Amino acid sequence: MKEHQGELSLSTIAMPADANANGDIFGGWVMAQMDMAGSIPAKMAVRDRIVTVAVDKMKFLKPVKVGDRVVCYTRVLRTGTTSITIEVDVYAERLTESKEVKVTEGQFTYVSIDERGRPKRIANFI
Ligand SMILES: CC(C)(COP(=O)(O)OP(=O)(O)OC[C@H]1O[C@@H](n2cnc3c(N)ncnc32)[C@H](O)[C@@H]1OP(=O)(O)O)[C@@H](O)C(=O)NCCC(=O)NCCS
Repeated sequence: MKEHQGELSLSTIAMPADANANGDIFGGWVMAQMDMAGSIPAKMAVRDRIVTVAVDKMKFLKPVKVGDRVVCYTRVLRTGTTSITIEVDVYAERLTESKEVKVTEGQFTYVSIDERGRPKRIANFI
């Protein structure tokens, strides 16, 4: 049985170009995938322009290896007047094993903005 919570938002492969000098994957690359993954449920809920305002409780639990299948699961944690916070959990499926290992977690907050980039009240959450 899968241990993860939330919806599968993004799935990709970690490539050699995303590796650091140790041969493992850069934390910044993982964060970028998480930001993208979190923006999907945020955008679907807000149905308007959004920007990332904050990243909290980031924890890199285990390294991501080149060739891993990287999967981001997301769930809405909190909705506010103009913002929405998404929990993003990242799992890696190693090339040599068929099980997913939790590698990173974090909370991403997005703000709905108007055409001038100012916070905008969210009209209707789904
Ligand atoms: C996002 C932005 C428009 C917010 O403007 P602001 O004047 O700080 O807005 P406010 O203080 O009114 O806050 C807006 C919402 O964000 C939330 N927020 C602001 N800072 C936050 C933080 N550090 N953590 C969590 N939520 C935060 C507020 O609680 C508020 O939510 P609510 O309306 O649901 O209660 C502005 O900060 C901005 O343009 N930032 C750059 C965004 C960007 O470029 N992101 C990409 C980075 S590469």
